[in-house]
Amino acid sequence: MSDDSRPSPPATPAAARTAAVIPAAGRGVRLGPGAPKALRALGGTPMLIHAVRAMAASRAVSLVVVVAPPDGAAEVKSLLDAHALPERTDFLVVPGGQTRQESVKLGLDALPPGYDIVLVHDAARPLVPVDTVDAVIEAVREGAPAVVPALPLADTVKQVEPAATPGEPEPVVATPERALLRAVQTPQGFDRATLVRAHETVTGEVTDDAGMVEQLGLTVVAVPGHEEAFKVTRPLDLVLAEAVLARRRLNDGF
Ligand code: CTP
Ligand code: MG
Repeated sequence: MSDDSRPSPPATPAAARTAAVIPAAGRGVRLGPGAPKALRALGGTPMLIHAVRAMAASRAVSLVVVVAPPDGAAEVKSLLDAHALPERTDFLVVPGGQTRQESVKLGLDALPPGYDIVLVHDAARPLVPVDTVDAVIEAVREGAPAVVPALPLADTVKQVEPAATPGEPEPVVATPERALLRAVQTPQGFDRATLVRAHETVTGEVTDDAGMVEQLGLTVVAVPGHEEAFKVTRPLDLVLAEAVLARRRLNDGF
């Protein structure tokens, strides 16, 4: 037998190209009236631009797909043109849908071939540090089909019987052991084929993409998240985000 009959080497996972899909099509109802949440300013720059820069900060990420508010794709395109972004990264903008799940699916549909690893990152988490992004990518490269950044909880969590009328007392039915719980953030990282299959087959309400992969019966792993990867959800979160930016500016000054 000649050497030619040897099986070809396995695809090198380290060479896999990574794309990030950023769902940014939500209104931000909990933040209160105003522009769509992703377009609100943080330190004078739209939240979405911070989120795009946070993904593009990883040297592994060579494409960012922004899923814009359904009627705001043109505005988002010109925002991306107007802000300095790394040369090594390509950008695409597609209009989003009625739910986060739909928006992510629309982003995935727009992904060109050649990207084997996909990150899904909320525009509403503008301040995630690059080390967290890289840790997620690394775990996917090492073979996990789905990876979530996660943090232990500060608060004890109770399961309740939800009241029919908001504000009414709710009976507590259980207290899960806090040490076993994690609060999950983004970017979540995936083997692309797995995430596409999850979005094609899983129906019903889910609040994150990894949850869909769990429903396929596959193992999702958690890597350490970061407190600066918090989601801007309510008005107080904007105050915290501005404070984090101010602290960064101060530290950069030294
Ligand atoms: N998202 C999206 N398409 C939707 C709904 C949400 O792309 N139809 C995105 C949001 O833009 C956000 C991320 O999903 O970046 C996480 O959602 P969330 O924080 O809930 O944002 P909103 O849905 O905009 O906020 P709210 O639920 O308060 O309206
Ligand atoms: Mg929402």
